[in-house]
Amino acid sequence: MAEATKNLHVEVKLNPKFPKSSIQSKIGEIEELIKSNSTNARNWKPLPLTGEAELTELFEKLVIGTCELKDGEQLVLDDFSIDPSTNLHVYKLHKDGPLSQNIGDDADDESIIGSQLWQLPCVEFDSIWENLIYDSNLKNEVMSYVTALVRLSEKHVNTKIINVNRLILLTGPPGTGKTSLCKGLAQHLSIRMNDRYSRSVMMEINSHSLFSKWFSESGKLVQKMFDQIDELAEESKCMVFVLIDEVESLGMCRESSSSRSEPSDAIRAVNALLTQIDRIRRRENVLILCTSNLESTLDRALVDRADIVRNVGQPSDFARYAMLKACVVELIRIGVVEDEEVHLQDILDVESARNDYTDQLLSIAQEARGLSGRAISMLPTLVYSKSYAKTISMENCMTLFREAVQERLSRNSA
Ligand SMILES: Nc1ncnc2c1ncn2[C@@H]1O[C@H](COP(=O)(O)OP(=O)(O)OP(=O)(O)O)[C@@H](O)[C@H]1O
Ligand SMILES: [Mg+2]
Repeated sequence: MAEATKNLHVEVKLNPKFPKSSIQSKIGEIEELIKSNSTNARNWKPLPLTGEAELTELFEKLVIGTCELKDGEQLVLDDFSIDPSTNLHVYKLHKDGPLSQNIGDDADDESIIGSQLWQLPCVEFDSIWENLIYDSNLKNEVMSYVTALVRLSEKHVNTKIINVNRLILLTGPPGTGKTSLCKGLAQHLSIRMNDRYSRSVMMEINSHSLFSKWFSESGKLVQKMFDQIDELAEESKCMVFVLIDEVESLGMCRESSSSRSEPSDAIRAVNALLTQIDRIRRRENVLILCTSNLESTLDRALVDRADIVRNVGQPSDFARYAMLKACVVELIRIGVVEDEEVHLQDILDVESARNDYTDQLLSIAQEARGLSGRAISMLPTLVYSKSYAKTISMENCMTLFREAVQERLSRNSA
């Protein structure tokens, strides 16, 4: 018999019609419901629930997972139990969208949007995490590491001995899911830590446009941006995630900047960023998530400050297979591709005996070598645009995907 899965967390997206207390009073029943649906329980995937409507209607989504198993692996729930104080996380989503925050002089008409402020968890980031596919254990590793960072910080670790900056850097080629991973991670953590932090926000910094327009004042603007972060973090029950996409536009290597046309200002921007990171680290409730396509151009002192630097590479054949499969399943769900009840096998058992469509899709995934996750997620539109039938048969769907892959590859090589 398979061993029972340990260290499980349950994330419950509550139907907005019900108060959180409606879950607390039904823990035993929920445990039974989960166990009775356990044949379909896959790590970090929404659990399809069948059971009494009175109970199932409480949930908009229920996800169970552990960082100890890979995404999508079967969970064994024999010993499973819910402890509301440790492994149950109940949430509702914010629906108001981001708030644009100006930076610069308030009196100045030219003041521009320096960042977007998201209340987490929010509708826009829903499902990002579970739809990201990596065949390395990247998501679990990043999640475990960040959870450890936050926990250590809460224990008021002596940072003169154990250095904790709460700075994460994800690098890699375009379209590999770096920004999505940061947003998904923040969303997940806001859910996981909602007992300790009654509020979570994400400040998404618009570094690129900010510095193209205000270059001569960049050092000052970095400071203003961090003043805003510091102000948010004053509320100790508020977890503040800061997303700095394309951090190279702020943190370019000082040595290479000094040979460019605006030397002193680029250096001021990097210096300001480093100083501000050092200043904000005293706030235990701030986590900075950075992404970059160009790690080699980043200032070494910035990279050195990152607690974790992870390279997010191009997807492997199996990861591309899983992405293509997700696209086909979605096309079936919306009725564009006929539902012929074909079983496309999971990435995990794709090595075992395969059926014909699984084989075809795997060979398409192999042909798609070199395409990023973003490029693959754009293929369904291309497929749809090539079909004149109301619904596409599965056979035709495979042919059209193959053509779309070739078209996309030739565009990339053009
Ligand atoms: N590993 C992946 N699994 C599933 N989808 C992916 C993956 N990587 C990328 N995608 C798809 O590509 C889209 C773009 O990803 P994202 O913007 O996060 O990439 P990025 O690495 O930040 O790119 P850039 O370097 O250009 O900013 C996502 O919305 C998603 O649909
Ligand atoms: Mg990005």
